[in-house]
Parts: sequence; structure tokens; C-alpha cells
Amino acid sequence: MEIKEFSSTTAKKQLMLLADFGRQLTGETDFDKLLSVIATQISKIIGVKRCFIFIKDDKNKEFWSKIARGKGLKHTEIHLPLNGDSIAAFVGRTGNTVNIQNANENTTFSRALDRITGFKTNSVLAIPLINKEGNIIGVFQLSNKKNNKAFDGNDEGLLKLLASLAGTNIEIAALYNEVQLANLETIYRLAITAEYRDQYDTKAHLQHISEICHKLAKDLNFNDGDADIIKNASMLHDIGKVAISDSILLKPGKLTEDEYNRMKMHAIYGGKILESAKSKILKIAYKMSLYHHEKYDGSGYPFALSGVHIPIEARILSVADVFDALCMHRVYKRPWSEQKAYEYIVDHSGSDFDPEVVQAFKRIFDDVKKMYYVKIKK
Ligand code: C2E
Ligand code: SIN
Ligand code: SIN
Ligand code: FE
Repeated sequence: MEIKEFSSTTAKKQLMLLADFGRQLTGETDFDKLLSVIATQISKIIGVKRCFIFIKDDKNKEFWSKIARGKGLKHTEIHLPLNGDSIAAFVGRTGNTVNIQNANENTTFSRALDRITGFKTNSVLAIPLINKEGNIIGVFQLSNKKNNKAFDGNDEGLLKLLASLAGTNIEIAALYNEVQLANLETIYRLAITAEYRDQYDTKAHLQHISEICHKLAKDLNFNDGDADIIKNASMLHDIGKVAISDSILLKPGKLTEDEYNRMKMHAIYGGKILESAKSKILKIAYKMSLYHHEKYDGSGYPFALSGVHIPIEARILSVADVFDALCMHRVYKRPWSEQKAYEYIVDHSGSDFDPEVVQAFKRIFDDVKKMYYVKIKK
């Protein structure tokens, strides 16, 4: 009576967790986050002390622990040879399930994992992770249930169910990842096109600006996803320069007033190129390119916006852009020292720049300096 009661509540609980699992997986298109969600959910549903997701790497002929969850595994990355005698390699090679009740008595497998992690494995349940085409792409490996019992047929069925649910999502996320990488590459190449005419070191400039924007965004408490978007979008801020003629852009000396007025149009052109973009990253890039020469006190261009009327992404970029422009060689100026450029930014806090962004810049400056030392050493 009591036992029946217990198992029916357990079943109910598992069913709810399962529904939750489905919900959490849907819509998660970030590959890394998806695996992390899967590992958390599987550990919770089956109740295990350790959970690994090994990914097959044919190039390096190994399985490596993309996910390693459990006590003492925080920064551990485990690499097991494809043809070795670890459990993961066996499952990954053969596609068989391995369910070991008492690892101490089992002599088939090496204790490779325990040796690496200093953990005593009592029971292990491992199944292959298979994609739509039926190819093995990795291995789920659980060890030691929280209730110290061995894995039973229920657990095995449940893990297989979860893995097959996860498999489709993992594949979608992997595809999405690839599309996203292709997107970023396109953005990067576009950005280079816009910048290469007037700069000796386009790549370094883009890298500096995007890194500084990323650090500023993180310091200003943007979440990781948004900080990444700001980082990547920032590379397009001067895309409007493609529409500025060489005679102005490459002029070695100071611009006349008329030339400078035409130069200022690059912000408008950038806005035109990126306006009504659909993706989040290009929407941010739109704001950055249109507003990055606005100044906090309203003395900038093209609209003389001030304060919070200037989108925050543009206020962030403005600090990064001016700092790096000062430090870099330009056809019209010599590079400044990082210290002098830093003082310029601080001096123009509240007039040109948002004081809160300048405060953030002060906090990250030690980190920023390191990027420039690397450049000099090369
Ligand atoms: P950029 O070279 O990428 O510079 C971006 C911003 O950094 C400038 O925006 C300005 O705010 C700051 N900056 C760069 N160099 C200096 C400097 O020597 N002193 C000071 N105080 N600030 C500096 P700005 O002024 O709106 O210029 C926008 C773009 O117009 C520049 O982008 C550059 O492509 C062009 N430009 C500006 N001045 C000249 C110039 O005298 N000669 C030429 N050939 N181009 C210029
Ligand atoms: C392995 O996968 O290397 C074996 C795990 C264990 O030591 O029990
Ligand atoms: C900006 O135009 O956004 C920065 C202002 C400056 O210091 O020239
Ligand atoms: Fe600009």
C-alpha cells in the first residue's frame, strides 16, 4: 500500500519533470546552453550524482566531455580516446547501452574516468547520442544514483527517451549554430569592407572596438547574450563609410568644413544601410551606426540627441570608438598613448560621453590596456 502510493507520486513527479524537459528544450537554439539544460534536467529526473555528455571528435579521435556535472567537476574537461577501453568509447563505438550495477566488480572497462576525476564510480548507465541520420555523435553517461541504488530498466528507458527528445533539439541547435557563425562571418567581412580603405590595421581596430564594447556591456550588467550581440554588432558601426569618397576619407590632413560635413553623413548612410533590419544583431548595429557620433550633452551629430535619448548601445560604442581611434594610426593623425587616450575619455565624461559608461571604462581599463600591449609585442 505504502509502496504503491510512493511509486505513483514518483511517476507523477517524473511526468511533470518530463513535460518541463520538453518545454525547456523547445526554443533553446544555443548549442552550449541546450546541452547544459539537458544535463540539468536529466540529472534531476533520474536523480544522479554525475552526468557527462561526451561529444565525438573525429578529427582528434576522441570523446570529450562537453558537459561534466557533479561534485568536483566544475572546470574539468575529459578527453577519452575513440578506440580506448573507457565506457564512453565502448558505447560510442558500438552504439550499445552499458548498465553496470557494480563498477568495482566489473573488469571490462578501464577506470580511466575515475583516475582522472578522483571519484568512486559505483554504477554507470551510458547510452549513445544518435542524430537523425542514425550516426553516433556522442554519449550520455550517468553515474551513481542519489539513492545509491543501481540503474534499473526504468532509468534506462527514461534516459533513452530523454536522449531521443534531446537528439532532435541538439541537431537543430547545431545547425542554428552554423547559420549563426556564417552570419557573424558575413558581418565581419562587411565590416572589413567598410573600414579597410582608411585604416592600416582594420582587423585590430575592429577587434579592439568589439572587445571594449563587450567588456563595457558586461560591466554594465548586460546579460551574456546581449553583451555578445553588442560586441558583434559594434563591428558594423562605420559601415556608412563605404559611401564616402576616397578624396575625403583618405585625405592625409585636416578636413575642410565642407569635407567634414560630408564625412558626417557616414552615420546617416550606415543607418540607411541597416534600417528595418529584422535580426536582433542588425537592429543593434543600426542604432550603433546611426547614433555613434551623438554626444551626451547634445553637441554631436547627426541629430544632436542628448543623454538617454541616445540609445545605450551607441553610448557604449562611442567610448570604445573614440578611445581606439585615438590610439590608432590614422591617415590624418598619429597614434596617442593609451594613457593619453584614457585621460581624454575621462575628461570628456558628461560632455561627450555618458558618465556611467565612463565609470565602467575606468573599471575595465586595466583589462583594456592588455589588448594594446599584445599589439606592441607582435
Ligand atoms: P575615426 O577616425 O574612426 O574617428 C572616430 C572618432 O574618434 C572621431 O569622430 C573623433 O570623435 C575621435 N577622434 C579621432 N581622432 C581624433 C583626434 O585626433 N582628436 C580628437 N579630439 N578626437 C579624435 P569624428 O570627429 O566625428 O570623425 C568621424 C570620422 O571622420 C573619423 O573616424 C575619420 O574617418 C574622419 N575624420 C575626422 N577628422 C578627420 C581629418 O581631419 N582628416 C581625415 N582625413 N578624416 C577625418
Ligand atoms: C570510463 O568511462 O573510463 C570508466 C568509468 C569508471 O571508471 O567507472
Ligand atoms: C562621439 O562623437 O561620439 C565622440 C565625441 C568625441 O569625443 O569626439
Ligand atoms: Fe564613425
